[in-house]
Order: sequence, then structure tokens, then C-alpha cells
Amino acid sequence: MDLSNVEQSPKMTLLANYQVPRYLVDEALLHFDLDKSKTRVISTLKMRLNPESSAGECVLDGESLDLISIKLDGKLLSDSEYEVNSKSLTIAEVPEQFELEIITEIHPDQNTALEGLYHSGRLLCTQCEAEGFRRITYYPDRPDVMTVFTVTIVADAKQWPVMLSNGNLEEQGQFNDGRHWVRWHDPHPKPSYLFALVAGDLYCQQDHFRTMNGRDVTLRIYVDPENKHKCDHALVSLKQSMKWDEEVYGREYDLDVFMIVAVNDFNMGAMENKGLNIFNAACVLATPETATDDDFYTIQSIVAHEYFHNWSGNRVTCRDWFQLSLKEGFTVMRDQSFSADLNSAAVQRIDDVNGLRSMQFAEDAGPMAHPVRPDSYIEISNFYTVTIYEKGAEVVRMIKTLVGDEGFRKGTDLYFDRHDGQAVTTDDFVKAIEDANSVDLSQFKRWYEQAGTPELSVKTHYDPVQQRFSLILRQSCPATPGQENKLNFHIPVAVGLLDSDGNNMPMQLAEEVTPYDGDTRVLSLTETEQTFEFIHVSEEPVASVLRGFSAPVKLKYDLTNKQLAFLMGRDTDSFNRWDAGQQLMINVLLEIVDDIQKQNTLALSPLLLSQLEAVLNDEQLDPALVAKMLTLPTENYLAAQMPVADVDGIHQAREFAKRQIAISLKPLFNARYESLSKQKKYQFNAEDMAARSLKNLCLSYLAATDDPLQMQRCLRQMKVTDNMTELLAGLRLMVDQAGPEREHALRAFYEQWKHDRQVVDKWLSVQAVSKLPDTLLRVKALMKHEAFNIKNPNNVRALIGQFCRNNPVHFHAKDGSGYRFLAEQILVLDKLNPQVAARMLGALNSWRRYDLERQELMKASLEQIATQKDLSADVYEIVTKYLAA
Ligand code: TRP
Ligand code: ZN
Repeated sequence: MDLSNVEQSPKMTLLANYQVPRYLVDEALLHFDLDKSKTRVISTLKMRLNPESSAGECVLDGESLDLISIKLDGKLLSDSEYEVNSKSLTIAEVPEQFELEIITEIHPDQNTALEGLYHSGRLLCTQCEAEGFRRITYYPDRPDVMTVFTVTIVADAKQWPVMLSNGNLEEQGQFNDGRHWVRWHDPHPKPSYLFALVAGDLYCQQDHFRTMNGRDVTLRIYVDPENKHKCDHALVSLKQSMKWDEEVYGREYDLDVFMIVAVNDFNMGAMENKGLNIFNAACVLATPETATDDDFYTIQSIVAHEYFHNWSGNRVTCRDWFQLSLKEGFTVMRDQSFSADLNSAAVQRIDDVNGLRSMQFAEDAGPMAHPVRPDSYIEISNFYTVTIYEKGAEVVRMIKTLVGDEGFRKGTDLYFDRHDGQAVTTDDFVKAIEDANSVDLSQFKRWYEQAGTPELSVKTHYDPVQQRFSLILRQSCPATPGQENKLNFHIPVAVGLLDSDGNNMPMQLAEEVTPYDGDTRVLSLTETEQTFEFIHVSEEPVASVLRGFSAPVKLKYDLTNKQLAFLMGRDTDSFNRWDAGQQLMINVLLEIVDDIQKQNTLALSPLLLSQLEAVLNDEQLDPALVAKMLTLPTENYLAAQMPVADVDGIHQAREFAKRQIAISLKPLFNARYESLSKQKKYQFNAEDMAARSLKNLCLSYLAATDDPLQMQRCLRQMKVTDNMTELLAGLRLMVDQAGPEREHALRAFYEQWKHDRQVVDKWLSVQAVSKLPDTLLRVKALMKHEAFNIKNPNNVRALIGQFCRNNPVHFHAKDGSGYRFLAEQILVLDKLNPQVAARMLGALNSWRRYDLERQELMKASLEQIATQKDLSADVYEIVTKYLAA
């Protein structure tokens, strides 16, 4: 397509062009006269020339601001002394040290992009990461400019009784005219992206935490008054996080108060602003009646994630946005191990890897593929990706695997100590680990630099005479946009050998004199191909490779279905046990797809059935693991395993398999469902969660038998339960069956919960992922429902996002209706909220992997978007990259 008529081409930022800031800010005094339609900001900046730079014009970032006045060292500047355009303010001449006073006006109630200061419900709040601060005032809005902020807020006392910012509350007072004021001071120098301000009529729940050095920290959660009963879980999670970071990383909190605010309109999950975390209400509020186990679990991990940023992100921050994974990858890895420690480590690992494979592997194989440390971007908001977060976490995890737990702790201690108060790079992080452990990670660093998911292929050879077993490991990595040829990675491969009874075998390498002590050992693959030879191997083992998913690679290991079944039943590594089961299911399901394409009669593998039966019968196994092992891979993940994704074939195959399993094992599902149905008051703990997950899984199989009695069972579960986990599971199943019961259940659910936004979003989502044929029409109708507001990102994600990402048969409808729908919505959204619009486009990431007819239709939708005038940089970048690849 000819894109030359696309007027705007926003400019690219390159890592290679990084330059230190010319001017630094030693102190920032911000004064806000708050009002929802017109807020006045007076910013006083004490600035000086950076000794590492050289004098020149002073350029400040600023967007969508009304500039009122600028004073340099107390003297008002005339129009000719500065220049303003839509992105910046330039002052041609400044002394080496100077004070700027800049007055701007902003309009929070017109801010639908939700960056900068905006109005949400009845409150005012900010979102500054990555580049939102420049929508509040002119400023060097980059993370390597770190400043001590003092913030004064003045506003009407009735409308804005609570006024918050970072740090400690220093002073407050009243004016005679009904306004009041507060002054907050944050002693820790920070970049502007960590600035936050909140004002509103908020309820506050308070608690305390005593730190390891005996300091008392006040904890506060601020929410809309109607949510005051929903704070307990987040507070418990916060205290758990504070304790864990002290115990595991030796990190103590550093202010007297830690605040969390819940807001209804938010582009992401939450934000780690210093001392004042702001959360998407859906990621912090929970009661058993309104939130599912998954919600409770996610909230615990997001509270931890944001809290952990206080060290990995705030005390030590990023030099520039190319280093984003420095804080995000590390912090995700930290929250994942926190969750593993507090819940089931095996389940946590399975979920993390499942997410990585289904989302990140797809990103890494598509047109937006980028390294964990990218080297260019057009819009930084587009780089808050699963690669930066989840693959970044895997990279840090591999480092930990390579240096060991103790070595890793020595490394992070050195990192925090060495770089406290600095803005640094991923190289600095790796260097600290290297220095603390005297190891060389130079080859390992390619994980930060090269995009694409490496393939790890495994061949084995057994010599019964010599009693030697060879493991031949080989690596390769596909080309990605801008990176044709890849250098070898340093891949830690955790391996175990199993004998025919499923016992671990000793693993002594030929070059070693003493036996290896341990069941799993980590081999380092650094070359294209390496052979690892084990001696004294008394029978031919089955190798259990990549235990615990020790590296984010695609494993090519041609085990027979029988060997997979063996590992599924016997592997001592629970991750690999699950993974062998998944691989077996994939093999079986893809064979069924093949049979569907050839119009053969379909049958389900008896081997798979007997394995599933054994798992379901295993009373020793954690019920949460049983549920995971009985869950079929998603249609999206199956699609990614085919050279050309057959949407309808996959759907049909998966439905067929599910039904066959359900019918064959019905008595077992029945029995386990009933035995798990003992009435018990809801509690959020690993054991009860495990029981509910298995119970709901059994119900979903029972519902797949098409036995009308099972719908009654769903209804009964919905009626008697005291929690949303079981209520929603029932509703979800009912929504896939056409008929009056379905409509009645949906109506009753809505009537009961229409006052609760978090629950209403679930109600939208279950309808968006329905299997019924008229789902798109219903989604369109729901967009006109009182429950839906296109300006609210949670509504958009719940309805449009769920339909496009998690309802593949309908989104990929052959007539292109799903694609046209998405294109239309993106064009509407782009005018309101470019970040959300760009995220929705992600549903088309893998468009080249479908049949030619669908590709044409998707391409037409992408072109329709690309040719639109005045696209945001966000959507522009993604749509052009999709079309170019
Ligand atoms: N730093 C936040 C986190 O991961 C991410 C974030 C929150 C964000 N809000 C945002 C990123 C808005 C970009 C835009 O914890
Ligand atoms: Zn984060």
C-alpha cells in the first residue's frame, strides 16, 4: 500500500542518540489551583547546567498546555525570548544556574487520554508514566532528571476534601473563601514520571506496618465511599509485600506513609508513584462476593509489584525508556517469586509460562517483535509490552538460575547499594551481578539485545554398553524485523533423567570425577550445538528437559505420545509434568484438526483419556494442579502451533475433545464435583482456591456433555454460592447455551450487580466470549447499554478487548465482520484515548498467520486505519509496523 499520503509520520527515538540532559533540576516547587475544568499550575524550577554537558538553549517538554507566563530569575520573558510549539518550549539563553517560574493552565475534564491530570468519576488524578508529566507543565520530562518535589495544592474544601501527593504531608490550612490547601514534600529525588496528585471525596482505610528496623509506617487506601468494604485484601497484600521484600531482598520502606488510591478510569493496571500508588479500581478492590479467586490472586501480585517498584524502579530508576525492562522485568520477576512463595509455586510457574507462551511468543514472532532492551521507538507507550515485562522477567530469572539464589542476592544488594538514587541501564544491572559473583555474563546479555524466541532442539543417544547417555542440544533463532541474523544465546537448560519407574537418575558428566548430587542440573548452552555426555547411566532414561521452564525458548524435542504420557504421569518436576500433558494434548488436538480438514471420522486418543483419568483420580496431587493438567490449551495457543492457523478446525477439534473427555469421564467429574461441593465460607488461601478451581473445572466438563441437567447444576451453583468465583463460573457456562435460562441468568445477574463496576465488567466479558453465533451482534448491542461507556478503558477491555482477543471463532469470522468491527472501534477510540486504541490493535498482531482470505480482510481493516487522517503516534506506529512486515 502507498502510505505516502499519510501526512504525519511521527519521529523515531533511537537509543544510539542518547545524550545526557543539558540542564538538571535541583528542586521543583509545584503549585496547583485545582479545578476540574481549568487547573492552574505554577511551577518553580531551580535549574543548573549539567557538568557532564555544555551550555546551550534550554528545551522543556510540554504538550496540550495553555502557557500563561514564564519568568527567568524573576524577570518576565517576552514572546521573543522563547519559542513554543506543540511539543516543547525553548528558551534560547539561560545562565549556568537559574530559576524558572512557569504558569500553565490545563483542562482535566477534557482529558480522555488519561495521561497527565484528568478527571475520573468524582476525583482528579494523574498518570505521568511514561511521558504524561509534560501535559501538566513544561519540564525536562525524562527519567534521568531527578528532582526533589514540593507540591502545594489549593482547592475548594467541599468538593476536594482529600488532596494527596508524593512523600509526607508537611502543612495544611484553610482560606476564608471555602478553599483549603495542603503541602506535600517528597525528600527522595525522583523523575517526573513518578509524580502523582489525587484529589476527591475519598474514604480512607488505615493500617500500620512496623519495618525491620522498627519504624512505624502508616498505610492508607483511598477509595470512593461506595467501595469502603473492598479494601481489606489489598491491605493484607501490602503488608505481605512489605515483609517479603525485607526478608527476601533486605529492602525496607523509606517514607512514613504509603498510600494507594483506586480510580475507575485507568489505562493500565496500576502505577508505582513514589509513596502514592494509583490503581485501576479493578486491580485493588475485592470482596468474596464481587471478586473471583483470579482477581484476588492478581490483586495480591499487583499490589506487590507496585510496592516492589519502590526499590526496583524508584530508588534505582531508568536512565531512559529503552531501559524500561530494568525496572519492569526485574519487578515482575520479583512479584512472581513473591506469589510463588505465598501460594503454590507450581501453579504460579505454570500460569507465568502459559501467559508468556500465549502472549509474548506471539509478539516475538510478529511485526512488533523487539528486544527486551529495544533500540528504537516511535511512541514509548507502545513498549509497555509482554516482551519488556514478561520476557524481561524471564531474563532476570535466568540470571538468578545461573548465579544461584545466594549469588543473586549478593548481586541485587550490590546493585541497590551502588545505584541508589541513580538512573541507570540494564548493563549496570548485569554488571552489578557480575561483580558480586565474579562471573562473565557478556554473552548472556544478548537476551537483552536480540528479539525473537530461540528454538532449542534436543536429540538423545544411549549407549547401553558404555552406559552413556548423550544429550545433544542445538539452538537457533528466527529473524525478526531489523534483525536478520542472531548470535548464539547463553541458554540455561535445566535437565533431569528419569528411569523407567519414574525415579531421578544420577547425572555425572563424562568430564567429572565425582557424581553430581541433585535431581536437576542446569546445563549452559552457549554454542550452536553442544553434546552433554552422562556416564554410569544404567538404563536408557527419558530426559526431562527445560525443567521449570529454565529459559524462554521453544523446545523442539520429538518425544512420542507414549513418552509424553510417561512424563505427564511420572515427572518429578511438576512444571514439566504439566507441560508434557500440554504437549500431548497439542499433538492429539492437531491430529483432530487434520482429520477435520480431511473429513475423516473423529476419535479421541485413548492414551490421552487414560492419562487424564489417572490425573483426575490422583487424590495425592494438589487439586489446583489437577485442574491445570485437565485444562486444554486455548484456541489461540493451538493456532500458534500451526503453520496456517485453521480457526474453525481448531474450535471444532477442541470442542470435540472436550466433549469426548467429558462423556468418557463423566462419573469421575461428577464424583469430584460433588465431593468438592461441601458448603464452606469463602476464604482466600491456596487450599480453598485449589478446591474451587477443580470444582469449576469439573462443572465445565459436565456442561460440555450437553446433558440439560447440567444447566440446572450451573444454576444451582449460582444460587447457593457465597462467592463470585463460583457464581461467575456458573454464568460463564450458561452463557454458551442458547435459551431462556441463559437470558434469565444474565438479566438476574445484571439486576443484582448493576451498581458494581467490577462485576458489571465481568458481565460484559462473559457475553463477549460467548460461543453463540450471534455474539458480535450482542457485543454491538451491549455498546449501547447503560453499562458501557467507551471512555472507560475497563469497559472497552471487558467488551471489545475480550471479543477480539478471546473469542477467536467470532473475531475471525470468515465474512470479516470481526475485523471491520475492530477497525471502526479503533478509529473512534483513537480520538479519545490513543493508548487504549493502540492496545486494541494488538488483536491483529498475528494477522499473517491466517489463510489468505482472512489475511486480505485483516489487511483491508489495517489499511482503513492507516489511511485515517490525524492518527495518534500510538496507533500510527503499530499499524504501519503491522503493514510493513
Ligand atoms: N509502571 C506501571 C507498572 O508496570 C505501568 C503503567 C501504569 C503505565 N500506568 C501506565 C505505563 C500508563 C504506561 C502508561 O507498574
Ligand atoms: Zn511495573
